[in-house]
Amino acid sequence: MQSIPDHANKRVLEVGCGTGAFTKEILKKLQDGDVFHIVELSSDFCSAVETNVLQQFRKDNPNIQIELHNAPIEEANLEGKFDAIICGLPFNNFPLELVNLLFAVMFGFLKEGCELAYFEYLGMLKIKRVFGFSTIRRETKQRAKDNDIRFDKQSGSQETVWRNIPSCRVVRLKGC
Ligand SMILES: C[S@@+](CC[C@H](N)C(=O)[O-])C[C@H]1O[C@@H](n2cnc3c(N)ncnc32)[C@H](O)[C@@H]1O
Repeated sequence: MQSIPDHANKRVLEVGCGTGAFTKEILKKLQDGDVFHIVELSSDFCSAVETNVLQQFRKDNPNIQIELHNAPIEEANLEGKFDAIICGLPFNNFPLELVNLLFAVMFGFLKEGCELAYFEYLGMLKIKRVFGFSTIRRETKQRAKDNDIRFDKQSGSQETVWRNIPSCRVVRLKGC
C-alpha cells in the first residue's frame, strides 16, 4: 500500500475489491477527512465487503467518507481525480482491448504524479508464451509488449513479493 500517500484529505480508489483483502490494508492508511471509493463489478462481493469489512469501519470512523460502487469501472459514476488507485483486476484473464480500455479509464481518474498499483502472478505470461497454442502465444507476446510500453510511458516501477503464494509482482505506474 506504499502508493497511498500520507497527507491529509487524500482520495483513494480501489478497483475490483473481491473479498476485501486489499480493502482492509487500505483502510489502515486512511485518516479523518480522507475519501475512499471502491468499485466492484460483483454484487455478491459488494455485499460481503460491506458486511465484513466496511460496516464496522464506518461506525468507528464517521469522518472518513467511503463510497462502494457496484459497477464495472468503465461505467462507474466517479467524480474528481484520485491520489492513489489500487487495482485488483486480473488483467491477464482479459482480452487486450479491454485491458487497454481499463488502463485508459483508470489513468483518467489519477492525479498527475500519483500512483496506480496493480498485481500480477509471476511467470504466467512466460508459461502461456511457451505452452499456449500459437494464437495464445501471439496474444501473450503482444500483452507483454503492451505492458512494457505502458511501464515506460507511465514511469513504472516494480517489486516482487516472494512471500505471497504464488509469488507476485507489484507494478506501480504514475499518472501523467
Ligand atoms: C482477482 S479479484 C480481486 C481480488 C481481491 N484483491 C481480493 O483480495 O479478494 C478481481 C475482482 O475484480 C472484479 N472486477 C472484474 N472486472 C471488473 C471491472 N471491470 N470493474 C470493477 N471490478 C471488476 C471481480 O468481480 C473481482 O472481484
